[in-house]
Amino acid sequence: MTALAIATEDIAAAPDRGPLPPRMLSGDRPTGRLHLGHYAGSLANRIRLHRRYQSFFIVADLHMLTTKNSPADIAETGQRAADMVLDSLAAGLDPAHSVFYLQSGVPEVAELSLLLSSLVTVPRLQRIPSLKEMVRHAGQREMPLALLGYPVLQAADILAVKATAVPVGRDNAAHVEVARELARRFNRRYGTVFPVPALVPADVPALPGTDGQAKMSKSLGNAIYLSDPPGEVAAKVRRMYTDPARTSPGVPGTVEGNPVFIYHEVFNDRPAEVADLKERYRAGKVGDAEVKEKLTAALNRFLDPIRERRAALAADQGLVEELIVAGTERTSHEVRRTVAEARAAMGLTRTLAGFRAAARARAAARAGAGEALSGQGV
Ligand code: TRP
Repeated sequence: MTALAIATEDIAAAPDRGPLPPRMLSGDRPTGRLHLGHYAGSLANRIRLHRRYQSFFIVADLHMLTTKNSPADIAETGQRAADMVLDSLAAGLDPAHSVFYLQSGVPEVAELSLLLSSLVTVPRLQRIPSLKEMVRHAGQREMPLALLGYPVLQAADILAVKATAVPVGRDNAAHVEVARELARRFNRRYGTVFPVPALVPADVPALPGTDGQAKMSKSLGNAIYLSDPPGEVAAKVRRMYTDPARTSPGVPGTVEGNPVFIYHEVFNDRPAEVADLKERYRAGKVGDAEVKEKLTAALNRFLDPIRERRAALAADQGLVEELIVAGTERTSHEVRRTVAEARAAMGLTRTLAGFRAAARARAAARAGAGEALSGQGV
């Protein structure tokens, strides 16, 4: 069964509402331009699916604060968010089918995160490997509270827009699992408010960095960006890590796990060329230089139309900003409605309403007493 089938099932099981329009949520922290790892991990799925859903894309600046929160980091958010949205549009998201929003512009999400945080334990969150890795990455010795709550805030993002499908990379799979648990737990305890979101996993292998490290990432300096010019791509590919045991073109090489071949596999649109290169590589009949030249050519074939669209979109000044403003307003509206539903389901609304009724009754009684007194000519 596919991930999408699970989502539909969970919605169909929600007893007291008709079927919801399918919603998709995905997005990134505004830490820099998007690279090939983002593309393979989730952007490709977003592009493939976004017209079939009501699609929301978050610029997760509150999530960024869990590891990067200096005034200088925060000051860069605007430029980075604009770059990310530009990259996504250039890569193929249609602005007519995409709602881009700034997380900190929708503060009700933080309220939902707080409400959900009573439904998950600290050890459950401490076991999530991606969080431990982020602590290490940020050079921290201890876990900041906000970082431990990262998956809960992400669950709030997902549930606040009632997303049914969440395409994310491997690092985020455990966070979507937390969102699924929280949706079920909330619904069971307080009544059905949230559809249980489904993970949409990447359908290609994880993309290693150009240096052969397991992950492509800006902070590791091993990324090829969607906006890199052709010469930059050629230079990065020339320096790429390949089979270290291969000291000359005549030595048979290993294709499996070799980053150059993983990139060929994911991005080269000429499968016959890839098959031929693999065969000759294994037989010691092709030099690394040729394999890399063909990879550069393939990557540039893939990136050329993206570069063209990016340049055209960037020339349209204020476009991205306008999309983010409109998207943040639209999302704000959705989220306020969902959080009000959650508060009502929990009974929080009733508490204040009860106080209001009693206070009104008292005011009315006071007014009545005042009238009675004034009737006595006091
Ligand atoms: N955690 C994502 C990242 O690694 C960003 C994110 C925040 C997100 N909220 C989300 C992704 C909701 C998908 C759905 O940058």
